[in-house]
Order: sequence, then C-alpha cells, then structure tokens
Amino acid sequence: MMKTGLAPLLVALFLFLSVSDAEISNKVGICYGQLGNNLPSPSQSVKLIQSLKASRVKIYDANPDILNALKNTDMEVSIMVPNGLINNISSTPSLADQWVRDNVLPYTRETKIRYLLVGNEILSSADNLTWSNLVPAMEKMENSLRAHGVHKVKVGTPLAMDMLESSSLVPPSNGTFRSDFSDSVIRPMLEFLNRTKSFFFIDVYPYFSWLSDPTNINLDYALLEAKNITYTDPNTNLTYTNLFDQLVDAVFFAMERLGYPNIPIFIAETGWPNGGDFDQIGADIYHGFDQIGANIYNAATYNRNIVKKLTKKPAVGTPARPGRVLASFIFALYNENQKPGIGTERHFGLLYPNGTNVYEIDLSGVEPKKEYKPLPKPTNNEPYKGKIWCVAAKGANTSALASALTYACARGNGTCDPIKPGKPCSKPDSLFWHASYAFSSYYAQFKKLGGNCDFNGLATQVVKDPSSKSCKFPSVTL
Ligand SMILES: *[C@@H]1O[C@H](CO)[C@@H](O)[C@H](O)[C@H]1NC(C)=O
Ligand SMILES: *[C@@H]1O[C@H](CO)[C@@H](O)[C@H](O)[C@H]1NC(C)=O
Ligand SMILES: *[C@@H]1O[C@H](CO)[C@@H](O)[C@H](O)[C@H]1NC(C)=O
Ligand SMILES: *[C@@H]1O[C@H](CO)[C@@H](O)[C@H](O)[C@H]1NC(C)=O
Ligand SMILES: *[C@@H]1O[C@H](CO)[C@@H](O)[C@H](O)[C@H]1NC(C)=O
Ligand SMILES: *[C@@H]1O[C@H](CO)[C@@H](O)[C@H](O)[C@H]1NC(C)=O
Ligand SMILES: *[C@@H]1O[C@H](CO)[C@@H](O)[C@H](O)[C@H]1NC(C)=O
Ligand SMILES: *[C@@H]1O[C@H](CO)[C@@H](O)[C@H](O)[C@H]1NC(C)=O
Ligand SMILES: *[C@@H]1O[C@H](CO)[C@@H](O)[C@H](O)[C@H]1NC(C)=O
Repeated sequence: MMKTGLAPLLVALFLFLSVSDAEISNKVGICYGQLGNNLPSPSQSVKLIQSLKASRVKIYDANPDILNALKNTDMEVSIMVPNGLINNISSTPSLADQWVRDNVLPYTRETKIRYLLVGNEILSSADNLTWSNLVPAMEKMENSLRAHGVHKVKVGTPLAMDMLESSSLVPPSNGTFRSDFSDSVIRPMLEFLNRTKSFFFIDVYPYFSWLSDPTNINLDYALLEAKNITYTDPNTNLTYTNLFDQLVDAVFFAMERLGYPNIPIFIAETGWPNGGDFDQIGADIYHGFDQIGANIYNAATYNRNIVKKLTKKPAVGTPARPGRVLASFIFALYNENQKPGIGTERHFGLLYPNGTNVYEIDLSGVEPKKEYKPLPKPTNNEPYKGKIWCVAAKGANTSALASALTYACARGNGTCDPIKPGKPCSKPDSLFWHASYAFSSYYAQFKKLGGNCDFNGLATQVVKDPSSKSCKFPSVTL
C-alpha cells in the first residue's frame, strides 16, 4: 500500500516541481531601457511589452511610473539599485532599508517584483572601490528585503562577459574569472548567490564576440544559424553548434573552477543591434569595422533564434549543462537615442521609439502561424576592404588638435613635409586641414607597426578620399 501510494505522490511532486520550475523560468523577458527623449509613456510601453508577449520586464532603476503601470499585469519584474548608491548602501544598512521601503514595499502587493539587481555591470568599470562594496551591498539588500517580509525577490547583480579572462573564453572549459577580482569579489558573490538560491546574472552578446574577430568567427555560428559548423572543446569533447552556448559554458566552467558548478545562470541581457548611426565620429565607414553585422536581418535572425532556443520545452540548456533552464531578458525594448557609445548602442530595440516593430518577433517563442514578412537583405556583413584615411574629427578641441599635430609631425619620416609653407598641402592654411594631413601621413606609416587612428578621439577614419587636386593624402589599404 505504502509503495503504491508513494509512487504517484512522488510523481505528482516531481511534476509539480518541474512544471512550476519551468513556468517560473523558461520564459523570455524584455529589457525596458529608458535612455531616450522620444519614448512612449510607461503605460503605452507596458501595452507594447504585452504585445511582444514578453513574460518579464527588467528596468534599470525603480521608476514608480513604470512599476505602477505594471500593476496587475502578471509580468515578473526586475528592478535595479543604481550604481551610484552601492558604496553607501554597503556600509549603511539603514540606507538599504530606506531603499526597500521607498522602492519595493509600495508595489509588492500588485506588481510582481521578483528580482532586485544591485548595480549594472559593476565589474566592467574601472572604479574598483565599488567592486569591493558590491557583495556587501547585495547582502544589505537581501537582509532588508527579508526584514521587511519580502521573500519572493531574488537579489543578484548582472555582469558582462569581460568578467572572464579573455584568453580563457576558448575553449569554454578554460573559462576563468579575471584574477583582479576573482577571489575578492566573485568568490564571495557565488557564496552569497548559492546560499540565497539566487541566480548568476550575465549579459551575453555573441554579437560583440563575433565583432572582435569577424574574419575567423563565422557569422552564422554567432546568429545560431549554422547548419554544419561546430566547435569541439578539446578538454571536454563537448560539441558546440553556436557561439551563445560557448560563452555561457565558459561562465559555467569558471564558476565550477571556484567550486560552484550549480548556481543557475540567468541571461540578464542578450540581443543584436539592428543598425548604427551614419553621422558620428568613427561611423563614417559604416561599411567598415565598427558597425559591421549590425542590421535588421541579423537582429531579427539572432533574436528569433535565441527566443526559440530559450523557450524550448523541455529546456535544452547548453552542452555543459544540458536540460538546464536559462531564464532570460532580451535587450532591448526600444532603440534608445540617448544611450552613450558608438551608434550600434542606440539600435538594439525590437521597437522604434514610435512603437512600431523594427521586425516581427514573438517573445513567447510560439512559431508564427503564417510566415514572417521577408527581411531586408544585409549589406554590411563583410568587413570593409579598400582605402581609408585618418582625418581630424569634426568639432575636435583646437588646442588639443594643435598638440596632436605637433606630436604626429615629430614622428616618422617627413610626415609633415608636404604641409610646410610653399609645399602642395600647405593650403588651406587651417589647423583642421594640416592636422588631417598629418594624421593620414602618420597612420600610413605607423598602422603596420601597431599605430592607430585615434589621437585621443581627435581623429577619425574615412573612406572618402580627403585629397585636393594638388595635395594627395597618404592612405592605408585594408
Ligand atoms: C553617500 O554618503 C555620503 C556621506 O553620508 C553623502 O555625502 C553622499 O551624498 C552619499 N552619496 C549618495 C550617492 O547618496
Ligand atoms: C584598485 O586600483 C588601483 C589602481 O589600479 C590599485 O592600486 C588597487 O590595488 C586596486 N584595488 C583593488 C581592491 O583592487
Ligand atoms: C586558458 O586560460 C589561460 C588563462 O587565462 C590562458 O593563459 C591559456 O592560454 C588558455 N588556454 C587555452 C588553450 O586557450
Ligand atoms: C551551495 O548550496 C548547496 C545547497 O544549498 C550546498 O549543498 C552546497 O554546499 C553549497 N556550495 C558551496 C560551495 O558552498
Ligand atoms: C556548410 O554549408 C555551407 C552553406 O550551406 C556550404 O557552403 C559549405 O560548403 C558547407 N560546409 C561543409 C563542410 O559541409
Ligand atoms: C575525447 O575524445 C578523445 C578521442 O575520442 C578521447 O581520447 C578522450 O579521452 C576524450 N576526452 C574526454 C575528456 O572525454
Ligand atoms: C516609426 O519610425 C520608423 C523609424 O523611424 C519609421 O520607419 C516608421 O515609418 C514610423 N512609423 C510610424 C507609424 O510612424
Ligand atoms: C581642450 O584641450 C585642452 C588641452 O588639451 C584642455 O585643457 C581643455 O580643457 C579642452 N577644452 C575643452 C572645451 O574640452
Ligand atoms: C624611416 O626611414 C628609416 C630609414 O629608411 C626606416 O628604417 C624607418 O623604418 C622609417 N620609419 C617609418 C616609420 O617608416
């Protein structure tokens, strides 16, 4: 009797556990970044998020308008303690209490806040005072939540892939945390996450890994499109069919190396840019290296494929952790026009700021009944090949430019001879023209010796020949 009674109970229990686990985790969310001055209101945004069928929302603060707009939506919400508060919170428990009272308690009844992230990519910043305060701040937030009777909110912190020694990424089994914070920050963090049954939140961008070496990494492999390209890890014999799995497993192996093989990974961000800017410093060579592969075709392909992989039931996991659920957020809801950095940073959105789709996508992972509309063919997947020149950037600081001109002219062989008085490049007699000549001349001699076209941001590469009739600028051929 006992035996027959127990078996169904165990089965039921197991089903309950696995179903609820899958329901809690095997769904895709969206990162709702707000760095734009032209974005829809929080309540319109919540409707758009629902139309994308996202199950979770991650915000980069605890914006009360957004938390109110998310009331009674059944969407799991991740909120964030701003980077700037970490140092103070780490030393002052009352500040953590205050933050919880102001930003969590007013919403817990109607908004499903489930994750509280302490800072964003803290270990990617050079500010190593905050590094040492990160885990203490996470502990304070955890204690405050529990003290206020909040038990459903997991505390974590999202880290970028530069948390690993770059030389250790391939093979994945060689994954190793960076030595400058592995023992001081990561080890206590893993202890905390394991103890509190939280997640290791990571930002995973195959796009950036591919971009670092587009000639050797196959684009289809990065887009989860490769049919016949695999990589076998020589240490484990595990076979990889896409770059995403390789990156995630490198983190699993790094955790394992520190004695924590089983902390679940949560993909705090992943995505692919749908474009870049044409008009900014460094972006003149749009078909060149800093924005290649950023287009609607690749963005739609990557995001559709990753959603399909992450929502598959039963969960597929990765080669090192088969069957493991990877909860996730796609970055991002909108193209955000005020995000700093190169143009691609402002083009990760699934939606334009006016709320229309950049491309069709369904974050629930359900295959569409009818075919998606055809995507525009990519035109910038190949690195630029041809001549480039190095010229003074628009709006460069003139006193700094004058110093850079002097610097460039003092190097190489006859670098600035043609701009001397009476020589073919002396006219027009402008600092901008002379500096542009000097930068091109310098770059043409020093590129092969490891020199670059930067001059502290005063210089930029162009693909259009800046030469005049009488003055030929030296070029570099890629
Ligand atoms: C941190 O605490 C110091 C000392 O109390 C205070 O002066 C400072 O404004 C606080 N910083 C923030 C970001 O709250
Ligand atoms: C922080 O960085 C400085 C300068 O690089 C270094 O001297 C110091 O040891 C670092 N501190 C920690 C805790 O890593
Ligand atoms: C493994 O990682 C170490 C440390 O980062 C590095 O020195 C080594 O070259 C890597 N081994 C391989 C085979 O890539
Ligand atoms: C992690 O947590 C599990 C269960 O909670 C525990 O059994 C294990 O010892 C912990 N691992 C470490 C390295 O502390
Ligand atoms: C892999 O597939 C591509 C495109 O279908 C094809 O061009 C290539 O020859 C194939 N390579 C191998 C090794 O089968
Ligand atoms: C990997 O495969 C090779 C060849 O089949 C075998 O000799 C080796 O023992 C395997 N290594 C592991 C870690 O399984
Ligand atoms: C929304 O913005 C995009 C990109 O600027 C534009 O192509 C599209 O026509 C706009 N749609 C509407 C309905 O305004
Ligand atoms: C321009 O550069 C000079 C020195 O290189 C610096 O002292 C000055 O602050 C800069 N001006 C601006 C507006 O950035
Ligand atoms: C300058 O000329 C000398 C002698 O021809 C040569 O050794 C050197 O490499 C040249 N420097 C550069 C930067 O091309």
